Amino acid sequence: MEIAKTIEEVKHHVLLWKKNGLKIGFVPTMGYLHEGHLSLVREARKRTDRVVVSIFVNPTQFGPNEDYQVYPRDFERDQSLLSKEGVDLIFYPSVEVMYPEGYKTYVEVKDLQDRLCGRSRPGHFRGVCTVVLKLFNIVQPEEAFFGWKDAQQVIILQKMVEDLNLPVKIVPLPLIRDNDGLALSSRNSYLNPEERKAALVLSRSLDLAAELIKSGEKRAEVIKNRMLELIQQEPWARVDYVEIVDLKTLEPLEQVQDNTLIALAVYIGRTRLIDNLRIISGGLEK
Ligand code: PAF
Repeated sequence: MEIAKTIEEVKHHVLLWKKNGLKIGFVPTMGYLHEGHLSLVREARKRTDRVVVSIFVNPTQFGPNEDYQVYPRDFERDQSLLSKEGVDLIFYPSVEVMYPEGYKTYVEVKDLQDRLCGRSRPGHFRGVCTVVLKLFNIVQPEEAFFGWKDAQQVIILQKMVEDLNLPVKIVPLPLIRDNDGLALSSRNSYLNPEERKAALVLSRSLDLAAELIKSGEKRAEVIKNRMLELIQQEPWARVDYVEIVDLKTLEPLEQVQDNTLIALAVYIGRTRLIDNLRIISGGLEK
């Protein structure tokens, strides 16, 4: 496994692989890897000839009062996990490599970027799209792998790829949960034991939504209110949003139907967690 810290080093490998007709799979990450990331790497390994993983805590997707400085980092551990998965190349650039002095260009996906998480994290998706487009241009993957955990990110990146005619296929994969249902996230490391228990309220509220839908309830307002009631019973929880929206446009729906996203963001103490449930081809995916 190679480790590249510069764009030139990555391009050197990419050029050789392309010359040999090899298909490149790419998993962009901010490091502090967990099973969710590794499941993406394993799928990339299966579907493509060479696997590149980037590890870069991207400053442009964090707001001024967010956790950029304290975001968990452990490159040694990440490196050892990725080497066991047979990754070919880690791209581990510095901020100066990705955003040299005088950097000016940003990518925005209008409207979609302002909904759900975009409301409480203005500028977040602009930062995500900018860094992902830069990474796509550097790594030139045929396929790029993302978890449904960040459903809005998946939807926005798919739109960016469509609108800018990028020659890459976004492959979204199921989110991975701990045994008790908590969606895996690098930010779970912020939770103390009491908060960790309280955090289960996110997945429990989605279970409640799933039960209601299975029993025939379609009214978004009713489902949303039942979820809110349940979350508000948890003293550590403060709701940022609970939304029931179209899976492509992210516009609010009155009735749950095919291609629906039920998404929520909840603060547990000071930690903001997200989770979601999708209805695709009549099936519930959580
Ligand atoms: O999902 C993430 O970890 C990040 O948003 C990404 C896609 C690596 C961009 O920084």
